[in-house]
Amino acid sequence: MTSKSVKSPRVVNIEDLRNLARRRLPKMVFDYLDGGADAEVTLRENCRAFESVTFRPRQAVSVPACDLRTRVLGIDVSFPALLAPVGYSRLMHPGGEVAAARAAGAAGTAYILSTISGHRLEDVKAGSSGAVCYQLYLLGGREAAEGAIERARAAGYSALVVTVDTAVGGMRERREDSFPAADSGASRMVDGLLA
Ligand SMILES: Cc1cc2nc3c(=O)[nH]c(=O)nc-3n(C[C@H](O)[C@H](O)[C@H](O)COP(=O)(O)O)c2cc1C
Repeated sequence: MTSKSVKSPRVVNIEDLRNLARRRLPKMVFDYLDGGADAEVTLRENCRAFESVTFRPRQAVSVPACDLRTRVLGIDVSFPALLAPVGYSRLMHPGGEVAAARAAGAAGTAYILSTISGHRLEDVKAGSSGAVCYQLYLLGGREAAEGAIERARAAGYSALVVTVDTAVGGMRERREDSFPAADSGASRMVDGLLA
C-alpha cells in the first residue's frame, strides 16, 4: 500500500503559527492580527512581561493529580483559558468564528464571540459544542446593543462580556492606509451586529 505524504508545516509554538500566518495572509490582514496600537510600545511591553514569567522547578516532591477544571462567569470549563474575542476572524480563515467556537468546545473551554463577527451570532452558537459568550462593543448606540443582547440571549449565549476600553478606534501606525477604518465601510464585511 502506498501512502501519500501530506505536507504539513511543523508548528510547535506560537512563533511558528505567526510565521505561517505571515506567509499565508494578505499583508493587510496579517498586520491587523499581529499589530498593536500606535507605535506598539504596549504590545512589546506585554510580550516582555509574559516572557518574564517562568516556572519554578520543584524536584523530589509528590505530584498531585492535575485537575484543570474551573468555573468562569458561571461556566464550567475543563481547560482554564478562554478564547478571547477577535474581531474580523473570518478575514483570517473562512471558517472564522464558527470554527473557533467549535475548537474551543472541543478543547473543553468557552469561546467569546466578538461584536465584529463575520458569522451571524446564531450560527456561531449553533455550530459550537461548548459554551459561548457574547462580547459587546457599544457600537451603533443603545438600541443596537439591546438588540444584540436580546439576540444573544435567545440564541443561548452563556454570558455577556462588555468591552469598555475601546471608546474610539486607536491609531495603528503599522497599518495606516492599509486597513479600512470601522467608519469607512468595513462594517460591510461583517454579518454580525453591524450588518
Ligand atoms: C486581532 C485582534 C482582534 C481583537 N478583537 C477584539 C474584539 O473584537 N473585541 C474585544 O473585546 N477584544 C478584541 N481583541 C482583544 C483580545 O480579545 C484580548 O483581550 C487582547 O488581545 C489581550 O489578550 P492577549 O494578551 O492574549 O492578546 C482583539 C485582539 C486582537 C489581537
